[in-house]
Amino acid sequence: MKKVSNDPNQSNSASNSSSLVRVEQAGTNDQNIQKVHAILLREKSEPSEGYKPTPIFLASIVTAVLCMGGVYAYNNSGDLDPLVYDHRYDPRLKSTAGVETKLSPEQFVAAGKRLFGTCASCHQATGAGVPGVFPPLAGSEWVLGNEERLIRVLLHGLNGPIVVKGNNYNGVMPSFGKVPGGGYNWSDEKIAQVLSYIRQDWGNNAALVTKEKVSEILKLEAARDKPWTQAELKAFE
Ligand code: HEC
Repeated sequence: MKKVSNDPNQSNSASNSSSLVRVEQAGTNDQNIQKVHAILLREKSEPSEGYKPTPIFLASIVTAVLCMGGVYAYNNSGDLDPLVYDHRYDPRLKSTAGVETKLSPEQFVAAGKRLFGTCASCHQATGAGVPGVFPPLAGSEWVLGNEERLIRVLLHGLNGPIVVKGNNYNGVMPSFGKVPGGGYNWSDEKIAQVLSYIRQDWGNNAALVTKEKVSEILKLEAARDKPWTQAELKAFE
């Protein structure tokens, strides 16, 4: 009589295996295995040294992305104008015309400080100038004096011998205004900003220059097409 065990430790399969013998069937035969491996061996490329050229499709994707980036940057750079960071400035208008860009006096002077980078190559960031070559702006009677004379110097430039703080200079100050032959063509607002800045830094303390005042002087001197001399500017001391 077959004994039925209740012992859970006694494996069922062990007791079954004696009665049910299974022979494992091969999935394939040797011939098939060799055939498959022959294909794999044939298609493996030879190992080689050195670098492979960038695949052409990858190169074209990178080029396309760079081109799109360039177009995007061109369309959205706001002409690289510092005023683009003013939230009231709309770069799509390409100018501040028609947009209310009333800066606070501090912002006005700060904008002038950024513009001053162009002047600093000659007059130096310290405003001290270069002795005998570029006159100082710090403590200069030209900067602190009559704003109408100062505006004229910036708009049309200045040539020939001049005296600044008791020292003689004889150089060429370029013209920055929108004037015939002017190299920089700065707007009246930029002129007003940079002049306001140089009247406020390095211990200078004179009133800010308004854009309207610059426009007024530019209109008065519309016929002028050459730089000023010190003698001519005597009238505006
Ligand atoms: C290429 C050099 C150069 C640059 C750039 C330049 N200046 Fe001048 N500046 C001169 C020279 C030189 C003189 C003296 C001209 C003379 O001897 O007749 C002068 C004179 C002046 C004067 C009158 C004299 C004085 O020292 O106060 C002022 C004001 C002035 N520059 C302001 C500016 C401002 C503001 C800028 C920038 C917007 C500027 N300059 C950019 C060379 C330069």
